[in-house]
Amino acid sequence: MQTVDLDARPGLPPDLRALLTRYPRDVWMGHANLGATARFWLERHDMFRELGSALSAGLADHREGRVDIPAFRRWFAPRLGFFLQNLEGHHQIEDQHYFPAFQAAERSLAHGFDLLENDHGVIHDDLLATAETANRFLAAEEDAAGSPRDGVRWAADAYADASERLLRRLIRHLADEEDLIIPLILDRGEAAIGI
Ligand SMILES: [Fe+2]
Ligand SMILES: [Fe+2]
Repeated sequence: MQTVDLDARPGLPPDLRALLTRYPRDVWMGHANLGATARFWLERHDMFRELGSALSAGLADHREGRVDIPAFRRWFAPRLGFFLQNLEGHHQIEDQHYFPAFQAAERSLAHGFDLLENDHGVIHDDLLATAETANRFLAAEEDAAGSPRDGVRWAADAYADASERLLRRLIRHLADEEDLIIPLILDRGEAAIGI
C-alpha cells in the first residue's frame, strides 16, 4: 500500500487519481466548469506558494548578509504574519465548508478529504513552530554595530528549519489538494456541488 504520509508520498495515492486521469492539469484552465470559486481558490494557493518562496528568499538574503537586520525585520515580520494568518484561515474554511461539500458530492473520495484534513493538522503544528521560532528570531539582539551575534544566527537557524519544513509540506499538500478537488469540480460543476 502506498503511504499517505505528507513527507513521503509522491502525490495522491492511486485510488484517488481516477478523476485526475480524466481531467489532467493541462485541461483545467480551458475547461467550462472551472468556475469563479475554483479560480479564486487556485489563486489563493498560488499566493501561498509565491509568498512562501519570497519569505525563503528574504531569509537567505539576511543570512548571507545582503540586507541589514532592521530593514530585513521591517520587510519580513508583516509578511510572515500575513502568510501564517491567512494560511490558518484558509485551512479552517476548507475543513468546515469546502471539504464537507465535496465529501457529500462524491462519497468514494471521502477518504481523500480525510487525508487532506490530516495534512492540515500536521501543517498547523508546523505553523505554530514557525511562528514561535520567528518570534525568537525577530526578538534576538544584534550587537551595537548591527551585525548578528551567535544568538541571532541560532535563532535564524531554528526559524529556517521550522519554516522549511512547513513550506515543503505545504507545497505537497497544495498540489495534492488541487489534484483531488479541481477534477471533481470539472466533472460536476460548482453549482451542483453547492460551492
Ligand atoms: Fe488545504
Ligand atoms: Fe487549500
